[in-house]
Amino acid sequence: MSTIDDLKEAFAGESQANRRYLAYAEKAETEGFPGVAKLLRAVAAAETVHALNHLKAIGAVGGTVANLTEAMAGEKYEFTEMYPPMLAGAEAEGHKKGARSMRFALEVEKVHYDLFGKALEAVAAGKDLGDVTVHVCPVCGHTVIGPVEGPCPVCGCRPDLYDDIA
Ligand SMILES: [Fe+2]
Ligand SMILES: [Fe+2]
Repeated sequence: MSTIDDLKEAFAGESQANRRYLAYAEKAETEGFPGVAKLLRAVAAAETVHALNHLKAIGAVGGTVANLTEAMAGEKYEFTEMYPPMLAGAEAEGHKKGARSMRFALEVEKVHYDLFGKALEAVAAGKDLGDVTVHVCPVCGHTVIGPVEGPCPVCGCRPDLYDDIA
C-alpha cells in the first residue's frame, strides 16, 4: 500500500468515526448523559480534523470549480448508479428502514446535484451565491436555498422543522 492508499483508507475511517460518534452523542443525550454526549461531539470534531488533514495530504481538495465539478459527479453517481440497485435490493429483501433511508438519499442527491450546478454556474462566472440561508430537512436531508416554502417534497416533514445552516 502506498501512502496515498493509506491516507484514503484513513480518510474513510476517520469520516465514518465522525458520523458514528455524532449518532452516539444523540443517543447519549436521549439516555440522559449530556456530558458524555459533549465528549462524543468533541472527539467527533477531532476526527473531522484528522479526516480533513488526510484529504489535504492526498491532494484531493482543488479549487472551487474543480471541487463542485467533483461533487456533482459524486452526487450523480449516487442517484444514477449507486442507490437505484441498492434500493431495489432493500425492497426485494423487505428491509423497510434500509429502503426508506436509501430512497431519501437517492431523491435528495438529485437536489444536491442541481444546487451544486447552480453554485458552479455562479463560481464559473466569478460570482458567489450571496448572503443565502440554506435549510436542511432533519428527516431526509432535503436541502433548500432560501426560505422553506412548504412541507418537505421528499418526506413530508414540516417546514418549520428544517435546520438553518447559516
Ligand atoms: Fe448529496
Ligand atoms: Fe424531508
